[in-house]
Amino acid sequence: MKGVILAGGLGSRLFPLTYATNKHLLPIYDQPMVFYPILTLVRAGIKEVLVITGGPYAGDFIRVLKNGKELGLEHLEFAYQEKEGGIAEALSLAEDFADGGPITVILGDNTTDVDISKFVSEFHHGAMVFLKKVPDPQRYGVPVLSDNKIIRVEEKPKKPKSDYAVTGLYIYDDRVFEIIKTLKPSARGEMEITDVNNAYIKMGELQWREFKGFWTDAGKFETLFQASAYWARKKGIKV
Ligand code: G1P
Repeated sequence: MKGVILAGGLGSRLFPLTYATNKHLLPIYDQPMVFYPILTLVRAGIKEVLVITGGPYAGDFIRVLKNGKELGLEHLEFAYQEKEGGIAEALSLAEDFADGGPITVILGDNTTDVDISKFVSEFHHGAMVFLKKVPDPQRYGVPVLSDNKIIRVEEKPKKPKSDYAVTGLYIYDDRVFEIIKTLKPSARGEMEITDVNNAYIKMGELQWREFKGFWTDAGKFETLFQASAYWARKKGIKV
């Protein structure tokens, strides 16, 4: 299995912190944010990784990650997203890298202590998403569940139909790239990863697992701070 980290965007929800660098290079306690999703992949035995970034500070990544050896990677590639076209559009840049195989995809601002090795090794085909119970599901992609199956994912619904977030970790087979080519931009003008997941639901091939451990994104001041506090506490710091 190969891994893809999506680390583009302008990070405008974190201005002024992101005036001079990419959001995914901001600190979460003692490490740059992007280290966390990369280390989640490395812990699951994924050593070949593509980082897809964009915006004016994309060059900063190579200074921070170098060739990925310090993080335990065997192969690190970069791709540059020229437009702000959304998560699914960024993912389309991974087609050559995936080379017909499945990929584990993590959004660069997601941190978790869940060990995903088992999910990676039991994956065969279709797609797999990971759900986490959250107090504010309206901020996320939210699954609509029926008979323990996801029948639809709604992106940032005003009235969420469950108290789960679809986290920013996904496993896809190689059909994901054909699906992305069929997508149309959403109301916010982006190609949505939620529409990719809905396409797999239509094919009857979306599986899900629940995360019991810690998970948060870090795209807002509040969650950036919460993520830092969690990882600091884990290292014995009183916060
Ligand atoms: C994105 C996805 C959303 C998902 C979230 C997880 O939202 O669109 O479905 O729940 O990541 O972090 P964004 O952070 O781009 O608003």
